[in-house]
Amino acid sequence: MGHALALVAARLGARVVLVTTAHQPVGPDVEIVRVETAQEMHDAVMGRFAQADAVVMAAAVADFRPKAPSPQKIKKAEGVPEVVLEPTTDILAALGRTKRPGQVVVGFAAETERLREHAAAKLAAKRVDLIVANDVSAADAGFEVDTNRALLLGADGASDETALLTKEQLARLVLERVVNLLGGPANSPSI
Ligand code: CTP
Repeated sequence: MGHALALVAARLGARVVLVTTAHQPVGPDVEIVRVETAQEMHDAVMGRFAQADAVVMAAAVADFRPKAPSPQKIKKAEGVPEVVLEPTTDILAALGRTKRPGQVVVGFAAETERLREHAAAKLAAKRVDLIVANDVSAADAGFEVDTNRALLLGADGASDETALLTKEQLARLVLERVVNLLGGPANSPSI
């Protein structure tokens, strides 16, 4: 979904930086910043936030990381290891907390149950302008497929359910919302 958003935003004329762990190509008009860990993604996104008119967080790397990664190979003779985890920083929440007036922040919500309720909770908790929620347990939506169906919830109270769309079609819908939130197509967005 992140690649579709970057591609469509560039086509709409935005200057686009895609921060991603994925290695698939995305076209010449998108600056790619490759990261591996959740912390690297946090640093790359937050470091560029001041220059951006809008940020769309399609996904983050992981919610948890091992608290004490082993510097050496874990030998199986020592028995089944207990891996203690700690939370990674929530990048979207950090963007919502620090955004300046006029900046637009959009998040996604990947859910398997109570889609609207969970998405509304994320919209409020992370203080974003728009949440694009999808049911990732559906076979034709979410991860690893080219189609998606979403519930769009705006901080302004707007609520829309889309049909089953290609990820590029959904990206276009989301970015049209972003352009509107930025004050219309007269502004030339940097996303
Ligand atoms: N997100 C983020 N940083 C994280 C985790 C999530 O920026 N460490 C962002 C995602 O990119 C997405 C939004 O927060 O835009 C919601 O992510 P999601 O995985 O749906 O939910 P979580 O906030 O991780 O909560 P939960 O897993 O409990 O549903």
